[in-house]
Amino acid sequence: MGEFSGKVAVVTGSSGIGLGAALHFAREGATVFVCGNDPDHNATARAAGDGLAFDVAEVDVSIPEQVETWISQAAEAAGGIDFLVNSAAVQTYGTTETTDVDHWNRVIGINLTSYYLTSHFAYPHMKARGGGSIVHVASVQGHANQNAVLAYATSKGGIHALVRAQAVDAAKDNIRVNSISPGSVRTPLLEFAARTVVGDGGDIEEAIAGFGAAHPMGRVGTIEETSNLIAFLCSDKSGFCTGGDFLIDGGLTAGIGV
Ligand SMILES: NC(=O)c1ccc[n+]([C@@H]2O[C@H](COP(=O)([O-])OP(=O)(O)OC[C@H]3O[C@@H](n4cnc5c(N)ncnc54)[C@H](O)[C@@H]3O)[C@@H](O)[C@H]2O)c1
Repeated sequence: MGEFSGKVAVVTGSSGIGLGAALHFAREGATVFVCGNDPDHNATARAAGDGLAFDVAEVDVSIPEQVETWISQAAEAAGGIDFLVNSAAVQTYGTTETTDVDHWNRVIGINLTSYYLTSHFAYPHMKARGGGSIVHVASVQGHANQNAVLAYATSKGGIHALVRAQAVDAAKDNIRVNSISPGSVRTPLLEFAARTVVGDGGDIEEAIAGFGAAHPMGRVGTIEETSNLIAFLCSDKSGFCTGGDFLIDGGLTAGIGV
């Protein structure tokens, strides 16, 4: 009997922070449905969840019909939904001058609209269970940002507003809505960023240590740490938390960097 026995979780993002949270739920006894659009990530996730109540589906979260089908099939198979975690996203770079309309629409579609879509389709199933918890993975970049992350930072700031708007409406149905805003966390996304920084043949460990040094805690975060926070926000221990954004950034946004 784990902490989440009898619970049903749907999670977008089949690697990194999403996969970590999904495995945490499943190891604690939940029935879990994860989705992603990358077949390699999905295959790795399937292997990691082997032996658990863990279903991995190929879904593009920016396509409403695919999201609707995935959520309704999950709810039907498991008899309802208790937790929704949105982690699927892309990180792209561009300024107002260099971000074209396709780039903008793609990032907003995947990183922000999908968080609304999954909520929209999961909501009736959570309401029918008498309540639930939604956790959106945002970013420190929704609070303060680097250069040239126009669409990404806008999507993350949008998530913070989405959380507030959803939380005040959903409280009457006992559905809590919160976000987490990570600083740098070691995931495939961060390793990709490190590889971009060092180039072919460079040492990504050095680049990741450099990212860590920018955080007052002197290191990057771990998937275990984000999973623990997401699990807390879904558990009854956080029963009075709704409408909030929870920083998990090693003190990054507490400083002013000078
Ligand atoms: N890792 C960090 O340092 C960090 C920091 C702040 C915020 N975040 C946020 O955490 C979340 C997870 O990122 P991560 O670091 O685990 O990266 P990740 O790349 O491992 O996870 C993102 C997942 O989303 C999937 N995805 C992308 N587009 C999709 C689509 N259209 N449909 C379905 N799936 C799609 C990817 O295939 C991938 O599996 C993201 O929202 C990211 O913005 C990460």
